Amino acid sequence: MTEKEFIPSSYIKSVSSGKTTYKSPSNIALVKYWGKKANQIPANPSISFTLSKCATLTTVSYKKLDEPNTTFSFDIALDGKKEESFKPKISTFFERVYPYFPFLKEYHFEIETSNSFPHSSGIASSASGMSALALCLMELERNLNPDMTEDYFNQKASFLARLGSGSAARSIKGSIVQWGEHAEIEGSSNLYGIEYPHKIHSIFQNYCDTILLVDKGQKQVSSTVGHDLMHGHPFAEQRFNQAHENLSKLETVFAEGNLDGFISIVESEALTLHAMMMASQPYFILMKPNTLEIINKIWEFRETSKTHVCFTLDAGANVHVLYPENEKSQVQKFIEDELSPYCQGEQFIHDHVGNGAEKIN
Ligand code: DP6
Repeated sequence: MTEKEFIPSSYIKSVSSGKTTYKSPSNIALVKYWGKKANQIPANPSISFTLSKCATLTTVSYKKLDEPNTTFSFDIALDGKKEESFKPKISTFFERVYPYFPFLKEYHFEIETSNSFPHSSGIASSASGMSALALCLMELERNLNPDMTEDYFNQKASFLARLGSGSAARSIKGSIVQWGEHAEIEGSSNLYGIEYPHKIHSIFQNYCDTILLVDKGQKQVSSTVGHDLMHGHPFAEQRFNQAHENLSKLETVFAEGNLDGFISIVESEALTLHAMMMASQPYFILMKPNTLEIINKIWEFRETSKTHVCFTLDAGANVHVLYPENEKSQVQKFIEDELSPYCQGEQFIHDHVGNGAEKIN
């Protein structure tokens, strides 16, 4: 697939108005995307667990205008309240996807969105938010072109979500999604995410992820700025190669259900991501003292309990605690008793691997 194949040649139907709702999950990267080229092309391939409970619910209502507009006509509301501050981000998204959705200036859109996780919890909503919006717009395109195949629908939704936010490309399907070209992963693409095509041991199909809300404040450095700092970064090439190698290693780890192998790749990826931030110019640190307290507690507990609990981080201070379902009761007790005091307002969210976005009727 190339970008051109996502440009529709013509539509067979005409649609005057309608409404569509999607619930799209967040995802947590195991091999991290950090660094990108023009047009949201990742500098290295990444892979993630699709989550389940952390999700965005978006409804898009559309009405055909009498005359096509010269700009994009839309309103956006978060939790029922108009959210002017979201408009520039959505305008940029519309600009980027316009070549692939030539109908965009012919409609007025009302976008209503809400997140299942608390607002300003420090959990990034861009992956679930952008994928939900891309899916709603794809549904309108499917109405204009009902012959579209399911595979094309999902690929194009991921392609468009990527243009909104890179990690959103991995939030269309479950349970493990890979995005970015990799020599050993057939069908992998820089343009969209694919369901991991190799064997996945059952232990990974329902893996648990508890998100510890360590710091709910605004991040000092956005992901976009962080990605940019990988240009001219002294360790960039080694890092990008390492991501390819880690994806190669994960193949047997996933197939065999090798939990020790999984832990060593996932924790190293998390710490490498933050090491890249610390070695950027300008340098920055997104971890907080409690992030480190939690990591040390997890290491101690893993040693004494002989469980397979481990951690990963995204671009912030929050910690994702990962563990297999069959160790859930022991690990969740540990989280509640020993890790929650390090969270803001003792807040955490128990989530698990999910099956991808859903259309809501
Ligand atoms: C650390 O997808 O938020 O979470 O493409 O600029 O929107 P943009 O970046 P974004 O970056 C995510 C970075 C990460 C790692 C990951 O999810 O792979």
